[in-house]
Amino acid sequence: MCGIVGYIGESSASPMLLDGLKKLEYRGYDSAGLAVYQNGGVKVVKTKGRIADLEQKLASSAALTGTVGIGHTRWATHGAPTDANAHPHTGGGGRVTLVHNGIIENYIELKSMLETAGCCFVSETDTEVLAHLFDYYYKGDLLTAMRKVMRTVRGSYAVAVLAADKPDRIIAAKKDSPLIVGRGDGEHFLASDIPAVLKYTRECYLLEDGEIALLQRNAVAFFDKDGTPLHKEIYRVTWDAQAAEKGGYAHFMKKEIAEQPKAVRDTLSPRIADGKIIIPELHLTEEEIRAIGKIHIVACGSAWHVGMAAKYIFESAAGISCETDLASEFRYRNPIIRAGDICLVISQSGETADTLAALREAKRKGAHTVSVVNVVASTIARESDDVIYTMAGPEIAVATTKAFSAQLAVIYLLALHFAKAVGRLSDEAESGLCTQLLQLPDAIASLLMLEKDLAALAKQFAAAKNVFFIGRGLDYAISLEGSLKLKEISYIHSEAYAAGELKHGTISLIEPGTPVIAVATDESLFEKTLGNIKEVRARGANVVALVSGEHKEVQEFADFVIHVPQANTMLMPSLNVIPLQLFAYYMALERGCDVDKPRNLAKSVTVE
Ligand code: G6P
Repeated sequence: MCGIVGYIGESSASPMLLDGLKKLEYRGYDSAGLAVYQNGGVKVVKTKGRIADLEQKLASSAALTGTVGIGHTRWATHGAPTDANAHPHTGGGGRVTLVHNGIIENYIELKSMLETAGCCFVSETDTEVLAHLFDYYYKGDLLTAMRKVMRTVRGSYAVAVLAADKPDRIIAAKKDSPLIVGRGDGEHFLASDIPAVLKYTRECYLLEDGEIALLQRNAVAFFDKDGTPLHKEIYRVTWDAQAAEKGGYAHFMKKEIAEQPKAVRDTLSPRIADGKIIIPELHLTEEEIRAIGKIHIVACGSAWHVGMAAKYIFESAAGISCETDLASEFRYRNPIIRAGDICLVISQSGETADTLAALREAKRKGAHTVSVVNVVASTIARESDDVIYTMAGPEIAVATTKAFSAQLAVIYLLALHFAKAVGRLSDEAESGLCTQLLQLPDAIASLLMLEKDLAALAKQFAAAKNVFFIGRGLDYAISLEGSLKLKEISYIHSEAYAAGELKHGTISLIEPGTPVIAVATDESLFEKTLGNIKEVRARGANVVALVSGEHKEVQEFADFVIHVPQANTMLMPSLNVIPLQLFAYYMALERGCDVDKPRNLAKSVTVE
């Protein structure tokens, strides 16, 4: 998704802006640009493509040496990724220059109003409307103009503005898109996310919706949308910038796959003590847990797959009815929420627009909201009643791995905590399960050793046109994730099916040689899944079976068997996902794909 950076200080702005944009690359983008005060005006350099393309363009134009500037990486929403549509955009013939992240919903009506007033547009973007609108209201006072813009536009934005006649200021504001201010010594920074400024400062201000920041070299002032000055506390970043770097691995995704034992351990261990599960962040009393009518889970993408697994887990462990929705569907289907229901929101970034909207919908309807989020102080985290952080650390690869595993870990904790509260888990059983939970990181680490086998398998299957994943119950939930990982990064068409559903249509797509990955680790359903394996094998499929336990009979019907250690059924998704991630990774490598930045995808999707 779009990334914003800004700098005001004594040093040359463009190196910081480029460096900051690179740190935001993980958000996904298709064009990039900078604007810097230079020789009495604002000079803009922008291009479609990667930041390297922008650097090339900068090298071939007059050097940008100014000490105040803004930068942007754009992920196209209105208009194709072109030079003209790239940010920054200007209004009033260069009087105003701005960058924006988000969507201006009423841009069409605003555009026609501005055209009537004489503005000429050179791009197809909603952002250019914002630039002209700012100029339209700008009569020499940045704060007044920003407040008028905020009153006029509908939609989401993080925005940073330079005015040609105010070379010592940057004004910025946000609503529904993230923005932070970094405080330095005689300099200030602006960014969509903290990693962009960590090289320069650990002191940040986190802007809330409707807030405005006015940056100068030696000062920053904050205002609410009515222009009232605000006092904001500094947020001191304690985590390490190193954690966001590749650390010797070929790809961030590979590094993050390897970090899963740690991510799961860091998420579980602070919440387990003396054989008991403690979740201090959860403010539901036992009585309130017993009164839960339904758990509504909302999420997108891989986080939704965690939600799919969670449905099976909550219902079987705690006996609480659970419904898992795609956030983009939930928000528009007028969900029925009754007193006592809770809404569990799962999101790595904590910024996904659909998930945030679903959270707000659930809140509006009276649900107690609990979020499972990886990014500290992200919008979803801030707006939920309770937030349980996954301790996965920054995840850079677009395709999630370690955050997914950490989310599953939180689900286990919650399910057992609920089971205890409703009287379905004895002290003894809780203690036993805590031991098993604490063994999970080692079991995950042992599965990472399968790397060579999966690399070899990928060599054989790299030319496949279609790959199917099948499974039942929790094995189905993890099949969904295995299939998504594969298509996200290797661009191979893939589908995941509940194994019993295949025969109701999709089996017609199985041809001789079609790879079918069968996840068959739920012992209680093994015979059934084996039956489905036989069905596809009889139609010529090349079967890879994931089994736990011995199951010699499977060798007769599968071309490859992957043995996963046996664990409590509830915990199997955490183990099964590892070979599926490695398979997708090596398939993508074999096919020469950009593993960390798959085409058309964004890490943090802040539009509907
Ligand atoms: C994007 C990413 C997915 C991710 C989904 C939800 O589509 O590419 O990997 O699962 O967003 O993101 P969230 O940050 O809410 O977990």
